[in-house]
Amino acid sequence: MDLALDSSTIIYLDNAATTFPKPKEVLEAALDAYTRFGVNPGRSGYDLCLMASELVETTRKELTRFFGGAHPERLVFAYNATDALNVAIQGILESGDHVVTTTIEHNSVIRPLNHMARERGVSVKYVPVGNDGFVDPAEITRRLRRNTKLVAVNHGSNVIGTIQPVAEIGKACRDRGVLFLVDASQTAGVVPIDVEGMGIDVLAFTGHKSLLAPTGIGGLYVREGVGIRPTRFGGTGVNSVNPYHLEEYPYRLEAGTGNVLGIAGLHFAQAYIAKRGMENIYRHEMELFGRLQGGLAATEGVTLHGTTSLENRLPVLSFTLAGRDPADVGTMLDVDHNIAARTGLQCAPLIHRQMGTGERGTVRLSVGPLNKESDIEAVLAAVAEIAADANV
Ligand SMILES: Cc1ncc(COP(=O)(O)O)c(C=O)c1O
Repeated sequence: MDLALDSSTIIYLDNAATTFPKPKEVLEAALDAYTRFGVNPGRSGYDLCLMASELVETTRKELTRFFGGAHPERLVFAYNATDALNVAIQGILESGDHVVTTTIEHNSVIRPLNHMARERGVSVKYVPVGNDGFVDPAEITRRLRRNTKLVAVNHGSNVIGTIQPVAEIGKACRDRGVLFLVDASQTAGVVPIDVEGMGIDVLAFTGHKSLLAPTGIGGLYVREGVGIRPTRFGGTGVNSVNPYHLEEYPYRLEAGTGNVLGIAGLHFAQAYIAKRGMENIYRHEMELFGRLQGGLAATEGVTLHGTTSLENRLPVLSFTLAGRDPADVGTMLDVDHNIAARTGLQCAPLIHRQMGTGERGTVRLSVGPLNKESDIEAVLAAVAEIAADANV
């Protein structure tokens, strides 16, 4: 494998998979902290251990504040959003429970729910989103039953970028005493989230997308009073004499040694986001995205899927090209133009089925905080060239 590949020559438009590159100052600061005190936090009383623990607890507090929470101990770390969603879904649901979710979910929600249905007697209703990719909150409330324990909704789509009206859904759930789980994988770090104001009971996030940390870190914020059964047990570093896992947060949902380098990344990325301003990052991405979407819409043979509105959306789009398999377009973008894109179903098969792209999927382009105007011009020129070739 060529590990000497110069990544600076690549035009990276796969930020919905993971943001890349990460801001240099974030990685440098995280590596410096890990070099100086990357020991096992919370296990001992020597100085290095106290420093590592302080980093973890400070980051818990920062993220709690960032998400509008009130109790830092209820911010629990996991490996990524998938892991966090599994902790939540498997820890909340029991046999006989009913769940309402949507067709715009990622497999990290769909698959745990389907396993709970097949193996634990949970029933699941997938509410279709509208043709524009937005879910109607009234459609969710209409499907609630006496035994509905959970509503699970993807905040921002990794396929077509739509941002769902979670505050409205959250209010409806709160009024009816149903738990509300939000998958904020695509939105955390670039779209404001206020768990209290939006009626969110459980928020799942991943560190490596817009929160700008390395891979391998994510977590949950669990509102006070929400019960999640631990499904993993083991060492916590405290109260080792107890034969059972600790019930109190954050230990309740954390087992084993955490990702200290990842948490350091989250900590320094919080400073980066605060300095640059989350709304400025979003504005930058959406300006580039507007040009990208407009340019593609004007390219003969291109079909854009989902809404083309720039309101309530992330800088993520899906397109297909007449006469070309999306996978081939992805390969041509890569091999002939040095452009990184994602093709296929993007781990979200239900929305593709609904859009009529369930077989071959789409080409997905997603803009990140470090993209430049020249990246957009390059991809537009490349798609135009591929489209012209397809039409001869
Ligand atoms: C909407 C959504 N949910 C969940 C995930 C899973 O995130 P992770 O791979 O970090 O677990 C992703 C990742 O692409 C996503 O886009």
